[in-house]
Amino acid sequence: MSVLITGSSEGIGLALTREYLRDGHHVVMTARDPIRLSLVREELEKTYGTKIFAVSADLTVPEERRKLYEEIKNAGITVDTLINNAGIGFAGVSWETDPENDRRLIRLNDEAVVDLCHMYLPEMIERRSGTVINIASTGAFQPGPYIASYYASKSFVVSYSQAVNYEARPFGVRVIAYCPGPVDTAFYDKSKGKLPPLYMTAEEAASYLYRRRNSSRPVIIAGIINNILRIIPAPLKMPILAQLKKRSWR
Ligand SMILES: NC(=O)c1ccc[n+]([C@@H]2O[C@H](COP(=O)([O-])OP(=O)(O)OC[C@H]3O[C@@H](n4cnc5c(N)ncnc54)[C@H](OP(=O)(O)O)[C@@H]3O)[C@@H](O)[C@H]2O)c1
Repeated sequence: MSVLITGSSEGIGLALTREYLRDGHHVVMTARDPIRLSLVREELEKTYGTKIFAVSADLTVPEERRKLYEEIKNAGITVDTLINNAGIGFAGVSWETDPENDRRLIRLNDEAVVDLCHMYLPEMIERRSGTVINIASTGAFQPGPYIASYYASKSFVVSYSQAVNYEARPFGVRVIAYCPGPVDTAFYDKSKGKLPPLYMTAEEAASYLYRRRNSSRPVIIAGIINNILRIIPAPLKMPILAQLKKRSWR
């Protein structure tokens, strides 16, 4: 069985890659930076004693998504599980940030997810088996002032995953949205934010999902604390989150 994990050169994607390799699955890795991807791949091949197929691609670019799909296909690999993990975020006053940042975020967090589903779901439906896991966030469950486009992009991922799961289930194919809360990765440095309290490590977030990957639930929220916070109504959570984001954003 082969698993394609986008954004697998670090953070949650890399921790997920380790989970699958540990259990003897074949993993296809992809990220933009070819040097880091190749270094990580070599280390994993040594650690787990297996060959890993890796393709560097910028998933904000439609032609690169297609190239990724073709390279995997030409290598004779069948993707049984697709994990749309690559994602970016950034904090700031919405109208003061560079609009190109928003466009890139939407292309990666939403458009690439939809595009890769278009590429892999028809094959899975035909085989009557397969799983798509889209990495969303607990940010999906309420608007996020000072990180507006990121939270909105993750709401899209949850809604889209639930709907497509409904369509695909009769054909034996599952689509899951996985929603971690804060996870200690380079994401915060890159998004000019600070890691909030009550975070998980990337390994904890990956292992939580890995243990539940066969669950029939279309939305999986990581950990007890995030499941409790989920119950608080959005209008109550939003001003608290806004204050936190405003304070943590640099
Ligand atoms: N960290 C958190 O607190 C948190 C919480 C909830 C949800 N999430 C979600 O979890 C996912 C992983 O986040 P993370 O924290 O692990 O992030 P991360 O540590 O920043 O890793 C991001 C990965 O995505 C790749 N990537 C970035 N831009 C890309 C692009 N344009 N095309 C292809 N690959 C790209 C990166 O490699 P390259 O830079 O080489 O491309 C890297 O492998 C994201 O969807 C994120 O929104 C994160």
